[in-house]
Amino acid sequence: MHRPLTATAEATSNIALVKYWGKRDLALNLPRTGSISVTLDSLTTRTTVRFDDGLEADRIEFEGNHSARGTARIVRFLDLLRAQAETDLHAHVETQNNFPTAAGLASSASGFAALAVACDAALGLGLSDSELSILARRGSGSAARSIFGGYAEMRAGEEADGSDAYAVPIADPEHLPLTLLVAVTARGEKSIGSTEGMRRTETTSPFFEGWTRQVPKDLAAMRLAIRDADLEQVGVLAETNCLRMHAVALGAHPPLLYWNPTTVAAMQAVKELRGQGRGVWFTIDAGPQVKAICAPEDASHVARHLRAVPGVIEVLQAVPGPGARVVSEIPS
Ligand code: PMV
Repeated sequence: MHRPLTATAEATSNIALVKYWGKRDLALNLPRTGSISVTLDSLTTRTTVRFDDGLEADRIEFEGNHSARGTARIVRFLDLLRAQAETDLHAHVETQNNFPTAAGLASSASGFAALAVACDAALGLGLSDSELSILARRGSGSAARSIFGGYAEMRAGEEADGSDAYAVPIADPEHLPLTLLVAVTARGEKSIGSTEGMRRTETTSPFFEGWTRQVPKDLAAMRLAIRDADLEQVGVLAETNCLRMHAVALGAHPPLLYWNPTTVAAMQAVKELRGQGRGVWFTIDAGPQVKAICAPEDASHVARHLRAVPGVIEVLQAVPGPGARVVSEIPS
């Protein structure tokens, strides 16, 4: 009789307020600069992992489907775990998102944070939060931040082995209440993935050096704005930093244009609302969706306005939430 080692974990997506765009080491997935994000209460991934000596290969299921997409990345991640735990057990991984994956919203942050926490619990590794963050980073840079709830800062680190490249919590979810509204402007649109986008930007954009010089200044300002719970300052800095990230990406060859006409219309709708005195700012990642940041009391007004933008398919809503966590565990 063999005894399966199993655990289920949940993690939510996070939105970068100061973006990560560039790697100092591709193999270890080390960021060139730090980043700051807020972990959300929804856009959740729930993952169950079972290491089992009855399995002859890893079995990966997304929402009940076997999908080639993402499977190789997860198997590589499981290989890291096996090395760390000194085991050769294969795993059955079942993962589901509570948000429409076809919406083109990045699920790698919540996905690898949930997987790291589930694997740690299943194998009884007892990793610290920093170690979990380092592990999640190997799957996806932004996943390192979803280990923590509320506001978190990813440290770029200096060590060649990445041992100091992990996220740290900087403020609780309640410290600075805000609402994030995601205006979905395209479904399942294929955009250039972040790894390829970053590589292309680093190697061909003449603005990349300027970006790496600017990010530490944006991080310092964002840290203060969060410390002071100053939503306006957080919003202004997030919007500015997002446009800088897109500017450096637009300078790549071939250029990285992640926006569609509805993306631009939604950005303009946010600016229009601001012109009417509303505190609302946008940020955009490596895709066409527009994420508006505002005070919770303004959320329904802003959501209504975004829904009215021609081409906006739906508007999703989230507030700051908890970090990645085990939701069930069978003790071994
Ligand atoms: O975690 P990755 O490799 O998918 O990169 C994330 C890149 C951005 O979402 C554009 C910015 C960020 O910091 O999350």
